[in-house]
Amino acid sequence: MLKKLLVLILGGSIACTSWALQISKMGKDLTPEERAALKAMLPNEAPPKDDEFVHIPPTMDDLEASDLHPKMKEAIRRGHDLFVNTQQLRGKNVFNNMNCSSCHTGEGRKPFAGPVWPAAVTLPNYRGKNGHVNSLEERIVGCFSYSMNGKAPEYGSDDMLALALYHQWLAKGVPMFPDVKIYGRGYPKPNDPEKIPDYARGKVAYEKNCSLCHGLDGAGLVVDGHVQFPALWGNQSFNWGAGAARVFTMAGFIKHNMPLGLDTPLSDQDAWDIAQYVNSQERPQDPRYTGDVKETRALYEKTFHQHTLYGTQLNDTVLGDHDNVGDKNFLKPEALRPRDFSGKK
Ligand code: HEC
Ligand code: HEC
Repeated sequence: MLKKLLVLILGGSIACTSWALQISKMGKDLTPEERAALKAMLPNEAPPKDDEFVHIPPTMDDLEASDLHPKMKEAIRRGHDLFVNTQQLRGKNVFNNMNCSSCHTGEGRKPFAGPVWPAAVTLPNYRGKNGHVNSLEERIVGCFSYSMNGKAPEYGSDDMLALALYHQWLAKGVPMFPDVKIYGRGYPKPNDPEKIPDYARGKVAYEKNCSLCHGLDGAGLVVDGHVQFPALWGNQSFNWGAGAARVFTMAGFIKHNMPLGLDTPLSDQDAWDIAQYVNSQERPQDPRYTGDVKETRALYEKTFHQHTLYGTQLNDTVLGDHDNVGDKNFLKPEALRPRDFSGKK
């Protein structure tokens, strides 16, 4: 009952996040009105610095009002729909209870909530995570493979084109390969904690601030097939290879975005402790698993797992030491293959 009420209240507050304002300029060039509007949108965040690039993308209303070709509008609408309701690809491409917008809240437009348009203006680029030059589509493949515990629609398919187009359209007006810092990109890391992040403190803070929506068991809440609160761990969550499995990324997400609908943010220490607790829970296997958790951790230690708890000891168990891939029936999607531009193959 309480949860149903929460869903109703939140439904309203989430709908209000589609801001009408479009901005695309350096911090130093913002007008006083734009500064005030940003402050109203992001009351808990530091204002942009002079040398940061600020971009607030167009909304779906702007799309409808624009003079883009109707077929173009249709394709962007499709991309948006796939982004906010990715569950329509459940069982085909998505094997947990996430939508892209579960983590990229505010339709992928919002600073400090992993806005997705930067990928459209900074890729193709080298990515340390897989050690080769990646395209925008490949970046999307990454989130399908790890965050959605699934496999992306085929390269070049209608769904992939629509999704990539939505990202690119959000980037409207941003110069390609901007060599300046982007305001609110990703989930900026909170200040270093005073005390080392701690599982036991994190558990207490989680139960106080998060469990009401996400559950004591981290499984979230699905009502009549609609994901109201996504899972934070277990089979319905992101897998061990996902960016959010890194403690600093989870701490950044929490600090800037949760608890949803609350005006006072958590302290940095709480964000780190809760991230430590959430990311010490079991989740589906890293798709790069070799069959041995220690070996897999070692292989990707430098580029990734130094920031996760995968392969580490917690009480009597080693985290990630299992063959469970969640609801899917494969370990690694084919699209995660390496690439080679040496011209020798
Ligand atoms: C479990 C949370 C989660 C889900 C679900 C998720 N992502 Fe992500 N995504 C992340 C994280 C974490 C990052 C890395 C942010 C950073 O750089 O710190 C990221 C990064 C990205 C980026 C790169 C942004 C940039 O600044 O370059 C794109 C594009 C992206 N995601 C698209 C998607 C799409 C499309 C989906 C749905 C198919 C999706 N994501 C689902 C967590 C998620
Ligand atoms: C009032 C309900 C509510 C509370 C309280 C809340 N969340 Fe969330 N959380 C949500 C909703 C709803 C989403 C999905 C956002 C969307 O779809 O726009 C979400 C998304 C997330 C995600 C990204 C998706 C995923 O499942 O991995 C994480 C991580 C998360 N919350 C962690 C937390 C943590 C940690 C706390 C406590 C500090 C917390 N939340 C408190 C409602 C809540």
